[in-house]
Parts: sequence; structure tokens; C-alpha cells
Amino acid sequence: MPSFSLLRDRERLQPESDPYGRQVVIGHGAFIELLVMALAQQGVLASVQLWPQGELASEPRHWQHVPVARLRLSGGGAPDPLFAQVLRRRTPKQRFDIGRPVSADMLQGLTAVAPTGGAVQSGGTVDMARVRVLRKLCAAAARVEMATPGTALENLRLLRVGPQEILEHRDGFSINDPALRIAIALGQFDRSVPAAEDSPPFRQACQMFEDQANTAMGFVWLSTRGNSRTDQIAAGRAFVRQQLRATDLGVGMHPMSQPLEEFAEMAPHHAAAHDLLLGTAPPRDARSPTVQMMCRLGHPMAPVPAAPRRALGDFVMA
Ligand SMILES: Cc1cc2nc3c(=O)[nH]c(=O)nc-3n(C[C@H](O)[C@H](O)[C@H](O)COP(=O)(O)O)c2cc1C
Repeated sequence: MPSFSLLRDRERLQPESDPYGRQVVIGHGAFIELLVMALAQQGVLASVQLWPQGELASEPRHWQHVPVARLRLSGGGAPDPLFAQVLRRRTPKQRFDIGRPVSADMLQGLTAVAPTGGAVQSGGTVDMARVRVLRKLCAAAARVEMATPGTALENLRLLRVGPQEILEHRDGFSINDPALRIAIALGQFDRSVPAAEDSPPFRQACQMFEDQANTAMGFVWLSTRGNSRTDQIAAGRAFVRQQLRATDLGVGMHPMSQPLEEFAEMAPHHAAAHDLLLGTAPPRDARSPTVQMMCRLGHPMAPVPAAPRRALGDFVMA
């Protein structure tokens, strides 16, 4: 029976904003789900064995180079109706239309992706009183990420400004802001030190996060009863299905992950997120209930550009 392994990329970690590698494991879950769907579309059934050589340790610096999953292929995969959305899926980063509410029916369509009693639970709100509280939380948490030297520098390292940098790297955070491009051309934007809180780049980045947060017309979140690596994979699989469902329903869904980040300076917002979304204390260990993803909902006012992709040959080994 043909099979292949999914290995993680040792260079793509964000130890400051993702100190336990939780978010990077969620990303692998999303990838696995898309892969299983794509194979099923070709009539191939993939059975996924997670951690064939053992789970990843709790801290990325102790991670061995072992597979995340082994996929064994056989005939008989049944096409998934959501597959039709795969190439249409986009992650909207711009302001949403504050004149267009997200309906309770739409929200229900999204939360239904995670059935009650399954490994992943989904909650959400389009109640504007609650949405306003979560908007504030997201904006405040983004500010902490920018004002904390470690996470600020990590973000600067992953910042891709203008078409040349974006096409060269095809990853990270893409920005095509003309003022920033001019500042770079003039040698006035130093990426080796965090931007001062009163500087134009800091204020601009703050504005971008505030625009995202303050135009949220709803929120949807995914949680798991524990926080094991397997829970994180399950959350990633559910997340991408939820975003595909959002694509089908015609609503924008954009992760706002800062309040869920585990670095020390974020602790008050991390605690607030768990209190507001689950009514629990923040997770302490792999057995604690954990909010894995939190996304804003709304209608983008312009077509959402596709994020850049790296060439397939860059990450497939025969
Ligand atoms: C666990 C996780 C957390 C993420 N958090 C954010 C976030 O807070 N803000 C953001 O703009 N993108 C975030 N992203 C990235 C987007 O979801 C998206 O994958 C990326 O912008 C590329 O776009 P695409 O998936 O539509 O191609 C996150 C992704 C994952 C897997």
C-alpha cells in the first residue's frame, strides 16, 4: 500500500509568539485535512496515523525530526462537497463592511462544522454587545504583540513588504503599503530593532490591527477539551473546514490569534479570552480546555487577494 510521511519544516517556527508550537501544529492539521480531501477527490482514501514515532514534545526546542503523520493510501476515497471551495478560499485581512451584519443562520452554518460531542467544539457570536467586547480584546492583544520586543522582532523578521519581497519569500506577513516601501527604499525602516510605540510604523501596524478588530461583525471559535498535540491537529482540520464552509456561505473568516498566544506578556488577554469564550481558566497543561482558534467574521468590501504559495517542489521529497 503506498504511503508517505508529513514532516515539519524545522525552519518555520515562531518561538516568541508560539512558544509551545501549538499554532504550528494547528497549521499541520489544516494541511492534513486539505490533503485528505484532495486525495479523496481523486478516488484515493488516505488513512492518517498521527505521530507514528511519538508525539512532539511540549516545547519546540525539544522537538525531534519525527513525522507528524503517516498517510496510507488505498482506493475508495469519497469526494467531499467542501472540496469545491478549496481554490476559492481566501483569508481576508482588510476591513469588513460594518453596514453588513453576519446572520445568526450563517453563524449556525459555521459552528455546525464541529458537531457536538466531537473532538472539537465550536462557539460563536453575532450579538453586537458581545462582539464589541471581543473586538476590544483583539485590538488590545495585537498591541501587546507589537509592544513586546521578542514578538515584535519575530514579526519584523517575517514581514514581506512589496511585490519583490513577497514573491521572493511567499510566506510570512505580506504588506504592500507604499509609505513603508518608500521608507525601506530610503533606508528609514530598521527591521533589526522593534518599532518605538510613537513611531509611524508602530502606529500604522496598530491601525491595521484595529481596523481588523473593530470591523468584526461576529466571531467564531474552536476549542478542545484538552490541549494535546492530537487535539491541536483536530482543531486545524476543523478550522480549514470551517473556513471552506465560510467560503461557501459567502462570509469572510479571518483568524485573530493574538489573544490566544501563550507568551508571558499576553497572559491577561489569554486569560480573558478563555473566560469570555469558554468560561474557564486559561489552560495549564495538555488536559485543560483550550481555545485553539478565534476568527472574526464579516463581509470584505473588495475582492480578497490570494496569499502567495511556494512551489510544490520546494517541500515534496521523493
Ligand atoms: C493557527 C493559525 C493561526 C493564525 N493566526 C492568524 C492571525 O492571527 N492573523 C492572520 O492574519 N493570519 C493568521 N493565520 C494565517 C491565516 O489563517 C492564513 O493561513 C494565511 O494568511 C494565508 O492565507 P491562506 O490560508 O488564505 O492562503 C493563522 C493560521 C494558523 C494556522
